[in-house]
Amino acid sequence: MPAKSRSRLTEADVTPKEVYLNRRQIIAGAGALALAGAGGGATAATLATVPSKYSGDLKPNTLHDITHYNNFYEFGTAKTDPARYADKLTTSPWSIEIGGLVDKPGSYALDDVTKGVTLESRIYRFRCVEAWSMVIPWDGFPLASLLNRVGVQPAAKYIAFETLMRPSEMPGQRSNLLPWPYREGLRIDEAMHPLTILATGIYGEPMPKPDGAPIRLVVPWKYGFKSIKSIVKITAVADQPPTTWNMMAPGEYGFYSNVNPQVDHPRWSQATERQIGGGLFAPRVPTLMFNGYGEEVAALYAGMDLRKNY
Ligand code: MTE
Repeated sequence: MPAKSRSRLTEADVTPKEVYLNRRQIIAGAGALALAGAGGGATAATLATVPSKYSGDLKPNTLHDITHYNNFYEFGTAKTDPARYADKLTTSPWSIEIGGLVDKPGSYALDDVTKGVTLESRIYRFRCVEAWSMVIPWDGFPLASLLNRVGVQPAAKYIAFETLMRPSEMPGQRSNLLPWPYREGLRIDEAMHPLTILATGIYGEPMPKPDGAPIRLVVPWKYGFKSIKSIVKITAVADQPPTTWNMMAPGEYGFYSNVNPQVDHPRWSQATERQIGGGLFAPRVPTLMFNGYGEEVAALYAGMDLRKNY
């Protein structure tokens, strides 16, 4: 986390593209770290995106914050490990196996998944279960549009996701830190919700590798671990699928994991959060129910006890 940051992010904290492209060229020139995802490098094409009504009035973190403070255990457990090691990941070619209870199962090349899709700029709050947060300007499209294209059958009640398994390029997978591959899941109505996106970029550039290139899930009202990175498999299923952190510690990480300031993690409070980029002495800020997206998503959980279904 940069020590010099101001306590409150302002518009000026949004790194202009010229600046970070330039920085990336310098970094790539030094042979140290390539930030771009598929087809990455300084020449990567800028993504054409349209603004979204779901972006609100949020001030995004800098690209540096977003790519240097990550959880991506496939590359190690330190927040800076993904920035150090993820450049080795081959993200092209990339395909996603879509199967289970769908009408058109198959292995889809990433280009086919994104062909004809309008990428939207979605500036979302991102709240990690560890009680830190950022604002990230994702470029993506609703997961629902892909699910509708492959035809999810009525018997499907959940969607399961898996990350790439490639220990040769993902050093964390050479240990048994987590039961690989990383897995996540959503209830079907959560998966079809317009806020749920598959993101292929940030700041109009291909998804940086530390953030889950070339394609990842983003579910902004849930703790960050639900937003699975580098997806290679999407399966429509009848029963609630096993999910990585829930398998590791079911008493600490529920299947739902909706951001909820009233339900503490057994080992720490979830009432407030530390904003990355705010500086060492910035006060913590209150955490919002459903991470501030309650108006859009609270109805999904009507009648459910959110203490039990944490
Ligand atoms: N996806 C995979 N495959 N592996 C991971 O370790 N970490 C999760 C989630 N998705 C993780 C993952 C956690 S704990 C968080 S908080 C977010 O990714 C972090 O996303 P970011 O690094 O882009 O901020």
